[in-house]
Amino acid sequence: MSKPIRKAVIPAAGLGTRFLPATKAVPKELLPIVDTPTIQYIVEEAVAAGVHDVILICARGKDSIVDHFDIAAELEATLERSGKTELRKEMRRIAQMAQVVTVRQQEPLGLGHAVLCAKALVGDEPFVVMLGDDIIDARVPATRQLADCWERHGLATIALMEVPPAETSMYGIAAGRALDERTTRIERLVEKPKVNPPSNLAVIGRYVLPPRIFELLEQVTPGVGGEIQLTDALAMLAREEGLLGYRFEGDRYDAGDRLGYLKANIAFAMKRPELAGPLRQYLGELL
Ligand code: G1P
Repeated sequence: MSKPIRKAVIPAAGLGTRFLPATKAVPKELLPIVDTPTIQYIVEEAVAAGVHDVILICARGKDSIVDHFDIAAELEATLERSGKTELRKEMRRIAQMAQVVTVRQQEPLGLGHAVLCAKALVGDEPFVVMLGDDIIDARVPATRQLADCWERHGLATIALMEVPPAETSMYGIAAGRALDERTTRIERLVEKPKVNPPSNLAVIGRYVLPPRIFELLEQVTPGVGGEIQLTDALAMLAREEGLLGYRFEGDRYDAGDRLGYLKANIAFAMKRPELAGPLRQYLGELL
């Protein structure tokens, strides 16, 4: 039987240039969707999938992300004094839901390099890589869906989603042999193909991987954009021991894109009973 997934690696070292000036002093991972930082949605998904250890790949100036997952004693005391007990408990829950550790990616050498920075902390066990820009709203957390596939087949599993043909150059694109309605045995994997994409199945930022990926990442030479690409190591893994793609069930938002971020805010606000009515009315008036 495959080992359970207990560790998540979350790259959070990017500059967030698409969100400047907001990200000049605030890490993009802390920008809120409604009232909750985007990174918290990711960590909640990890925890809901059974993860306990979260390894954040950080960079200079991003330490406040770690503060979000620490105990804020003064804040909690103030909330308690003013009778906001529920809010105080919620702050404590956020601090205790996972063990969060960080490692710094000292140079921006690419996603593959960022993941490689977690090698020593992950050690000899399977883990999940979760990209903070991909927010997935699903009945069964997307990471859980992938972990189930990994446990069923004993093979590394990455998230896939169909995208319009015009968007294939923005993603890793996979093609292969369908095993069932949702599962594909990946035979080709290309990072951001400019021409001739092998399909319109895009890689979305959830990857359940064996520790072998670290050795492959060490062999990868700079690819698209001169960066060490995770996709290139995954293509090696596909050839070596096999790789599955899983078309997850759920709604995915690209929170790394301004329009995607706005859509996520509206969609998540519509799920809040206290906001849904007034927001619907306001949007009706606006449009
Ligand atoms: C990364 C990966 C790409 C994947 C995408 C999903 O690209 O390199 O293969 O399709 O995430 O969001 P990025 O969007 O970070 O450039």
